[in-house]
Amino acid sequence: MPLVFAAATNHGPGITARRETAPEDEVAPFFEGFERLHQRIEAAKLDALVMVSSDHIQNLYMDNMPAFIIGLGDSFPGPTEDEHFLKIPKTIVPGAPDLAAALADEVMETVDLAYSGELALDHGFMVPLHFLTPDYDVPVVPLIINCMFPPYPKLGRAYELGRALRRAIDQQPGRIGLLGTGGLSHWPAAPLSGKVAVEWDREFLDAMTANRRDDMIRYTDAEIERDGGPGGHEIRSWITVAGACEGSTGVLDFYTPLPSFAIGGAVVEMTIA
Ligand SMILES: [Fe+2]
Repeated sequence: MPLVFAAATNHGPGITARRETAPEDEVAPFFEGFERLHQRIEAAKLDALVMVSSDHIQNLYMDNMPAFIIGLGDSFPGPTEDEHFLKIPKTIVPGAPDLAAALADEVMETVDLAYSGELALDHGFMVPLHFLTPDYDVPVVPLIINCMFPPYPKLGRAYELGRALRRAIDQQPGRIGLLGTGGLSHWPAAPLSGKVAVEWDREFLDAMTANRRDDMIRYTDAEIERDGGPGGHEIRSWITVAGACEGSTGVLDFYTPLPSFAIGGAVVEMTIA
């Protein structure tokens, strides 16, 4: 069964931690969009969900920083953050170890991956899952891209990772979905936290929905840092999803700036061809 679903959206601890204090008219379009995504993921009847996110110094440290690392575990604890802060109860999310190992084996024909049996899920995974598979009943294969510390994997390599993932997923039985999370522009834990670079976000989203690879990967790391903030490096997750859908375009379900959550919020669903 080939890939049956592919989308990208945001994560960010504020989405759950600060929901009550955010103006409703600001955040309502985001939660409505998340709910539509939830419905579409349910309708896809997935047997497994491959999730691509960054790590936030929860699993990976400067002693050993892989560009890409896939989780081979039977299950993954999360969230790593304090549950009272994040307002997501700690739980155990089922993994898909056989699928993860098979994907890693095929991906490594063209893209080198690190792997781990002991990843834990931080808000990059848990915030989207909290809304999109709230019963945690879809096994997850987590895949982390280093978006935290330079030297980062090149944007073009994130696209290649997506192409390799697609080739690997299409060889597997079952209904498999792909979800990238992170970005768009944001300045987390920085003096500019709350700034949203709307034009920068929209330019990237235009390139992604048209799947214009060269436009998506044209940014230097310094340009991302300057125009999209340190959190902007997480566009790598979105680029990986686009790479998995090379030759297809996508649909922007919504885009809305969310200064209360310190992110630009969006959902892009790619067409599977
Ligand atoms: Fe993040």
